[in-house]
Formats: sequence, structure tokens, C-alpha cells
Amino acid sequence: MAGDPRNFEGKTVLITGGGSGVGLECAKLFSDAGANIFLVGRTAEKLKDTGYDYFAGDVRESQTALNAFKQAGAVDVLVNNAGAIHRADARDTNDDDWQFIMDVNVNGPFYFSREFAQQDLDDGTIINVSSTCGQVGAAGLAAYCASKGALNQLTRTMALELAPRKITVNAVAPGAINSPMLFSKHSNPKDAETVVKRNMESIPIGNVAEPQEVSRAILFLARERHITGTILSIDGGYTAL
Ligand SMILES: NC(=O)c1ccc[n+]([C@@H]2O[C@H](COP(=O)([O-])OP(=O)(O)OC[C@H]3O[C@@H](n4cnc5c(N)ncnc54)[C@H](OP(=O)(O)O)[C@@H]3O)[C@@H](O)[C@H]2O)c1
Repeated sequence: MAGDPRNFEGKTVLITGGGSGVGLECAKLFSDAGANIFLVGRTAEKLKDTGYDYFAGDVRESQTALNAFKQAGAVDVLVNNAGAIHRADARDTNDDDWQFIMDVNVNGPFYFSREFAQQDLDDGTIINVSSTCGQVGAAGLAAYCASKGALNQLTRTMALELAPRKITVNAVAPGAINSPMLFSKHSNPKDAETVVKRNMESIPIGNVAEPQEVSRAILFLARERHITGTILSIDGGYTAL
């Protein structure tokens, strides 16, 4: 019915990177809302431990999206959450590191979104997990920032392409989240120890986000039928400065 939020009872929600952090919190929230959960990630053990249905594969391969959709059946909600980070200035980012980040953060969501769009659906939603790094620069995260900027543009463009079919496409743009990625890939282990404190100092609201706060925003965007093409900041005011 026009104006009603989407109901997830019996619907299928496919979440990439669902074995940890934001993805796993999303799985719990959508499951509580009555949805069938289907996870995709590289590490089968992690996915198996969640108790949800899953497909183990690398989002960098288009074949993973193809196989995951085949196994999941009709997908009503796609959460492109899998992501990777490389902590280096542009001048110190080699070809492989650049390509890897683009493959995970841009190609992966593209392959899954294309598969979603090719379904015979006249309702549904895609939510991409982007970052403040897609909106503002962050020195030392060249590839990551470029990849999330590209993801924002894919979001806006697919929102326009799929609007005639009542399919909405949005992104969340979190700042620092208290999840495994925040503590990973630091060249100096000391930087991982102080990363929360350093982020707190630059976030007006004074703390980093918890994965549940990001997941609730994803659920909200998934429910609403009139919000599309939006990049929703969840950053404690970081990009309001
Ligand atoms: N943590 C932060 O501070 C922060 C801030 C802003 C935005 N984000 C975004 O939030 C999203 C979720 O990250 P998180 O914070 O929850 O960290 P996380 O726990 O490290 O989650 C990332 C997930 O993506 C999966 N993944 C990574 N590369 C993959 C690949 N090539 N193929 C399939 N799955 C892959 C990982 O599982 P496997 O390793 O098993 O594959 C993992 O479950 C990411 O898109 C990230 O960019 C994070």
C-alpha cells in the first residue's frame, strides 16, 4: 500500500560480508523483522557459525554474485556491506593494493547490484555500505576514499535506473565504527591501540559508532519506499563540520 513501510516477513535479505561487524548486526535485525537471511563472505567458518544460510565466495568475482543469487532464490533486499581498507597515501599505494580495494568495494557491489536488478522484481531495495570517506577526503586512505566515492555514484545512478520499478537504492556513510575493520591494516600496531581515541577527538558527538547504530539505519532505509538515491551520514557530525 502506498505510504506503508516495507514488511520483511518471509522476504529474503542477502548481506555481503555478513560474518562480522555491521553485516552480522544487520542479519540479526532483519531476522528479528521476520526476514530470511542469506549471507555471503569469504570465510565459510565465520558464516556457518552465524546459523544463517550462506554462500562462501569472494565478492571480487562476478561468479560469486551469480552463484549466491542462484542459491538464495528471489532476493528482496540486498545489503552490499563487504568492504576492505588499505591504509596508505596515493604515492605509496601500489597497483595491486589499488586494484584490490576497487575490486572489493566497487566491483563487488556492482556485480551484486546488477544481479539484483536483473531479477523480475517490481519492489525491493539495495543498501550500499559506504563511508564518510566517499564524501570527504581522508589523507592516508587514497584507494579507500576513491572506492567509496565511486560506490556513492553507483548508488545515485542505480536509484534513477530502478525507480520506475519501485526499487530504491541508498547508501549509509558511517564514520569510524567499533568493528574489526577499524583496528585492521595499521602498519604500526600502536596505531590500532589508539585509533578509537584519535577518532573520538575528531567526531563532534564524541564517540565512534557501534555496528548496531549503522544496522538500524540500514533497516530504516530498507523499510522506506520514498527514500532513494540518498547517502545517509552516520558519523556523529564528522561531515557537518
Ligand atoms: N569499521 C569502520 O570504521 C567503517 C567505517 C565506515 C565504513 N565501514 C564499512 O562498513 C562495511 C562493513 O565493515 P565492518 O566495519 O563491519 O568490518 P568487518 O567486520 O571487517 O567486515 C567486513 C566484512 O566483509 C567481508 N569481506 C571482505 N572482503 C571480502 C571479499 N573480497 N569477498 C567477500 N567478503 C568480503 C569480510 O568477511 P571475510 O573476510 O570472511 O570475507 C567481513 O565479514 C565495509 O564496507 C566498510 O568499508 C566501516
